[in-house]
Amino acid sequence: MKGFPENFLWGGAICASQAEGGWRDGGKGIDTQDLRYFDPSWDKAGRDENRNINMTSERFEASLNTDDTLHYPFRHGIDFYHRYKDDVELFGELGLKIFRTSVSWARIYPNGDDPEPNPEGIAFYRDLFERCKARGMKLFVTMLHYAIPVNLVTKYGGWKNRKTVELYERYSRTLYREFGDLVDLWLPFNEINCSRFNPYNGAALIKDREPDYMNAIFQCAHHQFLANALAVKAAKEMLDEPMVGAMIARFTSYPATCLPDDVMQSVLDENYKNYFYTDVMARGRYPSYTEKMFEELGVKIEKQPGDDELLAENTVNFLSYSYYMSMVSSTDPAHERTGGNLVSGLKNPYLKASDWGWQIDPVGLRVSLNQMYDRYQLPLFIAENGLGAKDVLEDGTVHDEYRIDYLRRHVEQMRLAIEDGVPLIGYTMWGIIDIISCGTIEMSKRYGVIYVDQDDAGNGSLERYKKDSFEWYRRCIASNGEEI
Ligand code: BG6
Repeated sequence: MKGFPENFLWGGAICASQAEGGWRDGGKGIDTQDLRYFDPSWDKAGRDENRNINMTSERFEASLNTDDTLHYPFRHGIDFYHRYKDDVELFGELGLKIFRTSVSWARIYPNGDDPEPNPEGIAFYRDLFERCKARGMKLFVTMLHYAIPVNLVTKYGGWKNRKTVELYERYSRTLYREFGDLVDLWLPFNEINCSRFNPYNGAALIKDREPDYMNAIFQCAHHQFLANALAVKAAKEMLDEPMVGAMIARFTSYPATCLPDDVMQSVLDENYKNYFYTDVMARGRYPSYTEKMFEELGVKIEKQPGDDELLAENTVNFLSYSYYMSMVSSTDPAHERTGGNLVSGLKNPYLKASDWGWQIDPVGLRVSLNQMYDRYQLPLFIAENGLGAKDVLEDGTVHDEYRIDYLRRHVEQMRLAIEDGVPLIGYTMWGIIDIISCGTIEMSKRYGVIYVDQDDAGNGSLERYKKDSFEWYRRCIASNGEEI
């Protein structure tokens, strides 16, 4: 049986806003994730509602004018900004071959439009990256994982304005210049399809400021496509061996039944929620179904001369996606719903779900890998995968057999996809160390193989503990996926 290729990149992923904290340290500016509100006393319903809530002007303004950190967990994260040296040692002990994190735009350009980058921000990432390299890890760097300097929203309207595209290009060039010698894989945007499903996270949109919300969402997406293409173009100009990829949150969707209408619905869901984005970035043009989709959504975007050429000439070298779960597509309006990443979806009676309702489907990972490779013939990378669960710390560890089981079954399916002929180059498990959840802003939704002692209210020693899954993943990596 064919196993994982010898140079397979086993890794772990986090991002700046959910881990770093130090929201104003080292000259960092305030960013959009620093303004997301959470109340630790909310019950489950309150937390779920908060997850789906759209940012309002009232909340945005109130959050801008407070130094509170209790209700803003992204402001303290897991204090990675101050503890990264020890954390990198743990990643080294785990044997990670690659580490994925994002750079905080507001650490490099505190306001997004500052004349010069912030030297302290550059020094922080340089040291972090050099330490990872010294511990034998390659680097997979996300340039933008949701958090943009808040000044870009207040002054220019964020992604609605082409000025943000221009400033993003300058930011990307700064990153290549400062870290091009250290970073192996670049990712201009985390889950670029998120603008559709969480417009504040994905596109910094505030709903009540938009007379036509859906139109604004797709205008922002167009600008992000341009920004992505400009980042690819800059990489070709500035880097010796540019490896720049695209990423989506992959909403794998099966027809709920073999009723032909359900099958067609699943084709449309796949196109509209997933492939639309990768089609533009990998094929370099808006797909043929765009006109129909825009018509149905009532969307009309503005393009400028040269936009189409820019997209066509600057496509990505590889594709990546986050994969946590799958959904079903149905034309039956009464079909039962369940939770999910970014969006809730329709229930699959064959699958069990996590405590947050995400339907666990390892085989769907193999399905989606085959589909993605069939469509694009580009190398693939699983940029995120993992299980968010409530862990209990006992005797200095966590017995997380449930997480090991989840990971094992997904690793098995990756191996099968490789046997199917899919060129999968790497896998960065999400939240390799416990971080603040992006969706619900809870600390208690944990993904890591390293436990962080902190609760939803920010209490705790912040000490790190190895869970049982730490040793499991260490062996998995050391044996290149053989001992799982
Ligand atoms: C992805 C995001 O959508 O899912 C991450 O890129 C996020 O930022 C991850 O943390 C898991 O989602 P959640 O809501 O459980 O944190």
